[in-house]
Amino acid sequence: MEQKREKFSSSLAVFLATLSSAVGLGNIWMFPYITGENGGAAFIIIYLICVALVGLPVLISEFIIGRGTRRNVHGAISKITNKNRFKIISVFAILATYFMLSFYTVVVGWVYSYLYKAVIGALKGVTSETTSILFYNTSVGPIAPIIWQMIALLVGGTILVLGVKGGIEKLTKTLMPVLILLLGICAFRSLTLAGAMEGINFLIKPDFSKVHIGVVLSALGLAFFKLSVGSGAMITYSSYYTDDNNLIGTAGKVAISDTLVSLTAGLAIFPAAFSFGLEPSSGPGLLFNTVPLIFAKMPGGWVLSIIFFVLAAMAATMSMISLLEVLIVVFTEELKMERKKAIIMNVIIIALVGSLAALSGNPNGILGNKLVFGLTFFDLFDTLVSKILLPINGLLIILLTGYFINKKYLTDQLSNNGILNNELTIKTLIFIMKYISPILIIIVFLKSFI
Ligand code: TRP
Repeated sequence: MEQKREKFSSSLAVFLATLSSAVGLGNIWMFPYITGENGGAAFIIIYLICVALVGLPVLISEFIIGRGTRRNVHGAISKITNKNRFKIISVFAILATYFMLSFYTVVVGWVYSYLYKAVIGALKGVTSETTSILFYNTSVGPIAPIIWQMIALLVGGTILVLGVKGGIEKLTKTLMPVLILLLGICAFRSLTLAGAMEGINFLIKPDFSKVHIGVVLSALGLAFFKLSVGSGAMITYSSYYTDDNNLIGTAGKVAISDTLVSLTAGLAIFPAAFSFGLEPSSGPGLLFNTVPLIFAKMPGGWVLSIIFFVLAAMAATMSMISLLEVLIVVFTEELKMERKKAIIMNVIIIALVGSLAALSGNPNGILGNKLVFGLTFFDLFDTLVSKILLPINGLLIILLTGYFINKKYLTDQLSNNGILNNELTIKTLIFIMKYISPILIIIVFLKSFI
């Protein structure tokens, strides 16, 4: 029985929904701190190469699979391969999505809690000692991280109950422009501080001495994570695309806009950090330790701190719902479950698995000393997803499209049955998909393990 499926209503809706999945904590939290740790501009150059030669081709592959089949990730892979030879892709995608949500919702929770702290004025006048204590209390708990994680899940679940058009489309169409405006305000303020130049230099002057293969793997992993590929999120969103959507065009626009958002987030943080003599290489704590400190030192910082955490919360929430949607449609289409029930079930599963990640920050708590392969649950889920499942699944997806889907099908999807006049682009793209992206993924992957 073919179920009635919803579709986005316009190209703009398609673009903004897709961009809203890509833009998330990756831009505001990971991109700045990983850039900060790995020598600024040098890392950005490598990252851009990874986006162009690997991230973008995988993204387009997911669009072909999603819009071509108009199914959930599991149904899409079996439909497109006929016999389900590549079923492993959907298994990895679903696993990656559960693991990813398990730690992503923890960080979404931290962001919500910082937004709350900003609003009630708890971030006013913080010092480097008090920000560490605040972050410790937020992330270690034992109660706070779980409660905020549950709030994040409830918000996500509630939005998705409203469906594809009424929930995802409406929300992303309203919030994406606001998000970009707010980020622009933060970047402007940061750039107009005395001594901002040093931060700009950090972003544009490459220091290649810090670059080694680990850095390249980080850049590749970030490219996957940023463009939301490897986990089926883009297969799912593109299954709602309009028939006349230009897939290559949408992918290009999304990749460029997403990178611009990351760079703008860098401009909102680094010049201000340098201007107040703060270290840009403080790691994952950058967003929660360094950023509040910046606002505490800045004239008018209170209002800006609220603006900043509002935009971070919006970005994080919209990415989170794109991950949740993957699982919900698997449940409604494969298990024939009603949408509301599928949402409730998945929220419960993620709350259970995710609480392992939420609680693992406390060295004295129930889970504190529990390490798997020497990692806390939070780091384990993160490593498993970013360094293993996403790159491997990205590789499988691109091999599937490059070698196993027939050329006519690819060309029809990419040219909308010949309506778009883009033969040369398609040829170049297929060449990259077959010979360049897979080889790059394999080299980087093997090198980093040897
Ligand atoms: N791209 C999002 C970010 O930058 C994260 C994300 C959402 C994601 N959905 C995904 C990453 C699917 C990988 C796969 O924060």
